[in-house]
Amino acid sequence: MESSGCRCIVERYQEVELFIAQYAGQPAALITVLHKIQETLGFVPHDLQIMVAETLGVPISEVYGVITFYAFFSLKPKGKYNVSVCKGTACYVRGANKVLARLEKALGIKPGDTTDDGNFSLEVVYCLGACGLSPVMTVNKNVHARLKQERIPEILTEYSS
Ligand code: FES
Repeated sequence: MESSGCRCIVERYQEVELFIAQYAGQPAALITVLHKIQETLGFVPHDLQIMVAETLGVPISEVYGVITFYAFFSLKPKGKYNVSVCKGTACYVRGANKVLARLEKALGIKPGDTTDDGNFSLEVVYCLGACGLSPVMTVNKNVHARLKQERIPEILTEYSS
């Protein structure tokens, strides 16, 4: 069989289901298992949250609590372009809120959501380590520095293809 870099969602689901099964009855493996799901699927779907809770023997409320506590985990699939707006102190005092408000309006979504066409997801982060360039946001790995909310439409256009 020829190898392909692209694996279909069914294969990836099977892979995580097997992984979860290895940790049956081991509540201490919760983060390890959630990490695997996030890395493999890009988010932690509701049906797998239930499977993790039942298989590991952890209350579903705890599974949900861990996913929502750590920014690394996501409850929804991320967009092709993930926009991370920094609201750390330096960015906040230099107008990160205005940048975020403009993004929310332009994309029609709130942080934690993804646009219906799957192109953009939006999230808030706290300090990207580039405070001297604040306010800052990233789109995937690209850094956009010294932002002004007026530049948002033009920046989004760069990623709209
Ligand atoms: S506070 Fe935004 S980069 Fe540090």
